[in-house]
Amino acid sequence: MTFTMRPMAKLRTQSSSVVASWKVQSPGIRVIRLWLGLTWICGGWDKATDPNFLAKTGSTSISKVLTGYSTSSPLGFIFKHMIERATVIGIFVMIAEFALGLATLLWVAPTLAAFAGFTMSLGLWIAATWHVKPYFLASDTAYAVLWLSYFLTLLGKRRKIDINVERRGAIRLGMIAVGAMALAALGRGSQKSPTASSVPSAAANQIIKVADLNVGQTHEFTLSDGQAAIVFRTANGVFAYSETCTHQGCIVSYSAPDKALICPCHGAMYDPFSDAKVLAGPTNTPLAKVKVAISGDWVVLA
Ligand code: FES
Repeated sequence: MTFTMRPMAKLRTQSSSVVASWKVQSPGIRVIRLWLGLTWICGGWDKATDPNFLAKTGSTSISKVLTGYSTSSPLGFIFKHMIERATVIGIFVMIAEFALGLATLLWVAPTLAAFAGFTMSLGLWIAATWHVKPYFLASDTAYAVLWLSYFLTLLGKRRKIDINVERRGAIRLGMIAVGAMALAALGRGSQKSPTASSVPSAAANQIIKVADLNVGQTHEFTLSDGQAAIVFRTANGVFAYSETCTHQGCIVSYSAPDKALICPCHGAMYDPFSDAKVLAGPTNTPLAKVKVAISGDWVVLA
């Protein structure tokens, strides 16, 4: 398979207009194209409107998601290096999903978009759903096969991915990029309300109700300056730390089996039951303490 730049005249003969492209395709291919295009736009919109996606905490935080991939994926060592650049990667993924969806629906570099969609789905399969058993319960496998089938259909017998970089083709690619960024900005501007577990409550210093944090449990929250933090409750009371690693600022996570806060980037380990002192890793500085207390029904910032 090769990538080639093709002249404008040839591109036109292959139904470069959006309407013509839909007309010449078979009903089955139209359904696949519509489904993939819309789904990728919905995926981008879901991330753009999720207030936790680019934050440091929350189950949908890109930082937490990459941390999970780094420990569960067979290619975890790659994701480990991505955690430090989680925000940039999150923005890239969000815009790429919009761009692939728009390019697929609007017939701009369609073969390249289909190949990129296949690569993205394959990557998600290896990263996120590799351990799902049986494999067919993971939607990433189905999307990877759908994109691959669509890509091979567009590729036909040419075995080439044509990219038109002449004026009109470049303008259309530019319009897709602008459209993707505009949708991302629109989504960020109309975000859903943050989930209660990711931010302190409206009463400023309240973190979580005591009834919702049993002895032996932890709870992640966000400080007013945006830092991720974690509170522990033991039989003796509550205590909390910033989750920002004192080595190079990655976000640590609590590992119950290890009874330690562990940094996914370079392996620093901290003992939360002993003032977050360093147990291992490339730092000598404990995690910063966050003063918390129990006040009435609430765990609060002290
Ligand atoms: S950032 Fe290097 S060990 Fe945490």
